[in-house]
Amino acid sequence: MRQDGAESAPGHSLTFSEDLRRVADSLNACVDELLPLPDGPEQRVVEAMRYSALNGGKRLRPFLTIASADLFEVPRAHSLRAGAAVEMVHCYSLIHDDLPAMDDDDMRRGRPTCHKAFDEATAILAGDALLTQAFSVLSDDATHPNGDTRAKIIATLADAAGAAGMVGGQMLDLMVEQSDMAEEDVERLQALKTGRLLAAPCLIGGLLGQADADTLESLDAYGSCLGAAFQITDDLLDLEATESDLGKATGKDAAAGKVTFVSLHGPERARNRAKTLVDQAVAALSRFGDAAEPLRAAAAFTVSRRS
Ligand code: IPE
Ligand code: IPE
Ligand code: MG
Ligand code: MG
Ligand code: MG
Repeated sequence: MRQDGAESAPGHSLTFSEDLRRVADSLNACVDELLPLPDGPEQRVVEAMRYSALNGGKRLRPFLTIASADLFEVPRAHSLRAGAAVEMVHCYSLIHDDLPAMDDDDMRRGRPTCHKAFDEATAILAGDALLTQAFSVLSDDATHPNGDTRAKIIATLADAAGAAGMVGGQMLDLMVEQSDMAEEDVERLQALKTGRLLAAPCLIGGLLGQADADTLESLDAYGSCLGAAFQITDDLLDLEATESDLGKATGKDAAAGKVTFVSLHGPERARNRAKTLVDQAVAALSRFGDAAEPLRAAAAFTVSRRS
């Protein structure tokens, strides 16, 4: 990834935006190849998968997978496939998050949500199939030649996505009442619902590169802090940004009585907390030296982003 320090907008390095766009382009080509349309009327579910996995999105999780794997000079073909698998799980989580039984949202990435463009049953099935397809991609030796490494990567993504990770966090998100929540409880909810699926790509990048346990711990610390900052920023954007910037409805968290760092402490404290978390994420990268510049830029982007 190129690094020339040029700036495109306050807080956004031109290099980072370009790097992210390049990753998004390669990722889209990879996902396109991984999701061919089958013959037969059941192709409707693949159309819905493609609708939700090829409809934009920042592609931050694949970026983190690739930038972490680059620290260990992992072949790009491997990190791209692993990034595609993580993104499929993320896209599944968004399809289900938008369903009427959950956040009941009509717009995602500037287009009607999957259940609006298709129907609820198809959206549920498209989410299910993206989740399972992700593990099929990871289990293929085109993702890594070593079977033990593939098994570790599969376990890492499964743990991050399941009841001890994103799904558990989504359960809490739907259950909790503001009055029951202390600051640590909100942090735990957000670490599960969002943090785990942002730390997992960093860990997976390290696993692809056969990193040792201490190095994996640094990548996990980086991704967890970045993930916490990312969700606080998502909550701030829900309050402060416009629907056209975000491509999804705003003001929904307050309307639905969601408990967030912003609802508990207000936007200023939330912004400061997110900045502190970015500093902590960057501090966790010290062992990697200059090679971790793309990951440092990703951490800065996490809080400066406008969408
Ligand atoms: C949105 O994630 C859901 C959260 C975890 C906050 P992103 O903001 O990464 O969504 P896309 O992939 O860019 O659409
Ligand atoms: C969703 O958090 C996190 C997921 C696990 C999908 P939000 O519900 O705040 O995400 P948005 O705002 O709908 O993208
Ligand atoms: Mg939600
Ligand atoms: Mg939502
Ligand atoms: Mg949100």
